[in-house]
Amino acid sequence: MNIQIAPSILSADFACLGQEARRMELAGADLLHIDVMDGHFVPNITIGAPVVYCLRKVTKLPFDVHLMISEPDRYVDAFVDAGANMVTVHAECPSADKALKQLRHRGVKCALSVKPGTPVDAVYPYLDKLDMVLVMTVEPGFGGQSFMTDMLPKIRTLRQWADQFGLPLDIQVDGGVDVNTAPLAIAAGANILVAGTAVFYSDDPKATIRKLRSGRA
Ligand code: DX5
Ligand code: ZN
Repeated sequence: MNIQIAPSILSADFACLGQEARRMELAGADLLHIDVMDGHFVPNITIGAPVVYCLRKVTKLPFDVHLMISEPDRYVDAFVDAGANMVTVHAECPSADKALKQLRHRGVKCALSVKPGTPVDAVYPYLDKLDMVLVMTVEPGFGGQSFMTDMLPKIRTLRQWADQFGLPLDIQVDGGVDVNTAPLAIAAGANILVAGTAVFYSDDPKATIRKLRSGRA
């Protein structure tokens, strides 16, 4: 399977986000993962659509926007207008369904995510309408946490469902992905890996991205 690497700008130097985005483009990233937090759905606040709009001008990387916000339906249009290519909303939000409909209407890729405590069954009713499912392998909110291996069965179940129904579903993992845990996620069936700390803090991001993509520890 074609493995894609999405560096998470949560681990970037926010004083020079544009340069950081270009640094990841040069290092061979496939997507730029942009973590949006509202201080309500998660206990942290990051960035909004105006920042995405400015970043759009400095890189050609597709933007993978991860909305960790309580009311995604209120903001998806703003993020699409700002240049998002794919948008993930959380299954735990009451308006997730509405937000997904808006995203499909706008013609961008849409994804649903489950926090560690949410069973993967939550995405089952939406499977044929999703481009991607994001399996969180840490509690969302902060970078630099450890990969939860007990989330691997969720990835296996999703890959099984996708194969069974012949769906071209992307399966993304986010949280604690590094050169040691990436092979586990890939073996379980994930094909898009988000990595913040592992790539941004690497002495050689290009080599790290290549290694993560290889699926070998
Ligand atoms: C966490 C975010 C992640 C985070 C991952 O809530 O969704 O994208 O940046 O960071 P690492 O790779 O450091 O765990
Ligand atoms: Zn994320």
